[in-house]
Amino acid sequence: MASQDLKGKVAIVTGASSGVGWQTAVRLGEAGVKLCVTARRVEALEKLRHQLEAQGVECIAVPGDVTVQADVEQVVRECLAHYGQVDILVNDAAVQSYGFFDELPWEHLTRTFDINVFGFMRFARAVLPHFKARGSGHILNVQSMLSRGSAPLLAAYSASKHATLGWAKCLEMELEGTGIAVSNVLVPSVATNMFSHAPTMLGLAPKPVPPTYDPDVAARAVLKCARRPGKTVIPVFLGGRLLLWINSLAPALGKLIMGRFGARMQMRDEPVVRPEGNLFRPVAEGVGPYGPVPPTPRWVRFSATAGLAALVGGVVLGVAGLARAAR
Ligand SMILES: NC(=O)c1ccc[n+]([C@@H]2O[C@H](COP(=O)([O-])OP(=O)(O)OC[C@H]3O[C@@H](n4cnc5c(N)ncnc54)[C@H](OP(=O)(O)O)[C@@H]3O)[C@@H](O)[C@H]2O)c1
Repeated sequence: MASQDLKGKVAIVTGASSGVGWQTAVRLGEAGVKLCVTARRVEALEKLRHQLEAQGVECIAVPGDVTVQADVEQVVRECLAHYGQVDILVNDAAVQSYGFFDELPWEHLTRTFDINVFGFMRFARAVLPHFKARGSGHILNVQSMLSRGSAPLLAAYSASKHATLGWAKCLEMELEGTGIAVSNVLVPSVATNMFSHAPTMLGLAPKPVPPTYDPDVAARAVLKCARRPGKTVIPVFLGGRLLLWINSLAPALGKLIMGRFGARMQMRDEPVVRPEGNLFRPVAEGVGPYGPVPPTPRWVRFSATAGLAALVGGVVLGVAGLARAAR
């Protein structure tokens, strides 16, 4: 499909008060998209709206909770009332809660699904009648590498992201030929505020599984999908395509590394008491695209990629050599 000009299109971006959602709104705005940004924190949304308007981007901010049906409908209604149309829905809002599966409060599991899975579905159902009436539209879901992979301490989050990708794939098929596209961006670890407001059962501050990328990597991938709808993309190599490839080639390796070291990899040596974080109520901490932990430096990512590629290449050559010798 040819790249679409986004100028004058209208997008709803959920989860826009922080992280990938915020940066996505900025990138879409730069491309000429008119925005309706939403999340629970009013002041954060207003800050984003002012920033965008100062850059000449048309933007309305409509606060709401993705678990409240009336809020979701209100966001879509206000967007339609203001702009007369919606072209793109960016489903981004999500939460995670850190803890071993049997130690996570049951309410954390259900709430994670209510936000991450049903939140995406509620928004999709709210825009679909409008999209169907126009015979066009785009549901663009911010997914995760954990929509395909897995990690200890994040059972609820990972399960929710697997569910959301499964739902999106079904929807894509149901909408075939209607003019309505579904896209997914499988985001790697990105240095957002998610880790500064996620609940943790472990008494230590959480951090992303390395390597960690700039949130702009995810925002630019969303922008690319907005221009070329209907794709499921993995925007990075080391923390993305290579990881999935190794995992399908040697699943025991990933299980061994993440099983032994995955929990430790996700904790900083900084005590923190945060049993609920932003799960049930929004918190003041963590506004804007960047969180407290910086992205992994580029040179470290390049060295790790080269090392891993050499290791995989060596293993493949070794196995091929053994197979030839055995013949
Ligand atoms: N950070 C990563 O490493 C990473 C990796 C892979 C995928 N992702 C995906 O990227 C997306 C954004 O994550 P992020 O890292 O940008 O996280 P973030 O900085 O914590 O942003 C999450 C956003 O969701 C909103 N939100 C949370 N609960 C909500 C609710 N009940 N109703 C409405 N909005 C709610 C938050 O705003 P309020 O609190 O103001 O409501 C915030 O704007 C998510 O889909 C996540 O799964 C992130």
